[in-house]
Amino acid sequence: MKPLRFLVSAGPTREYIDPVRFISNPSTGMMGFAVAKAALDDGHRVVLVTGPVALEPPRGARVVRVVTARDMRRAVLECLPACDVLVMTAAVGDYRPARRHARKLHKTTRALSLTLVRTPDILRDVRRRATGQVLIGFAAETHRIRSSAARKLEAKGLDMIVANDVGSEGAGFGARDLRAWVLFRSGATAKLGTMPKRRVARYIVRAAERLRKEKQGNA
Ligand code: CTP
Repeated sequence: MKPLRFLVSAGPTREYIDPVRFISNPSTGMMGFAVAKAALDDGHRVVLVTGPVALEPPRGARVVRVVTARDMRRAVLECLPACDVLVMTAAVGDYRPARRHARKLHKTTRALSLTLVRTPDILRDVRRRATGQVLIGFAAETHRIRSSAARKLEAKGLDMIVANDVGSEGAGFGARDLRAWVLFRSGATAKLGTMPKRRVARYIVRAAERLRKEKQGNA
């Protein structure tokens, strides 16, 4: 098939409290980097928008490095018009401190409260601007895995979502394997079971190729 243009988001985002402290999550970027590699291996083009991670990007990907959820939103929306498939594996932080202090905070009081405000939901904004791209999301869950993923598939207008059981302690972050289910907009579901992230990545790339053909067929 004709090479597709993949846009893959990966890793965590960081929201700074002051110059030396931030709120983030344990995402390592492994899943997104594996999707980028699988797409390149299949002859596709890849833009990889990544939060701060320690991994070496796959050779051939165009890499855009970002820090905050707002940076990631900007980069994804900028690259969206020139892509055919978006795979959002990034663990985007949902809240940021209302205020970022310009100087390091020193401890004074026994308790410190932070006011957090919502970050943008990138996929919801993508949905409004999408022009026929295949949209694939992830749902890293600790409980009610499939029902939460089904809700997100619907709310974010996705073609497909990978529901991923990270375990009640969140041990799935950084793990080699993923325990996953896949839900499609069509109502179809597939149980992937536990498999290495690079195999899940290959599955996602093949599914994206198929969904792209279906979408073009319907256009
Ligand atoms: N996502 C996004 N923008 C956000 C948060 C999440 O685009 N601000 C994307 C993620 O990259 C993922 C999907 O939405 O592909 C689901 O993310 P998840 O964090 O599981 O869900 P939330 O939208 O945060 O919903 P909830 O707070 O109910 O878990």
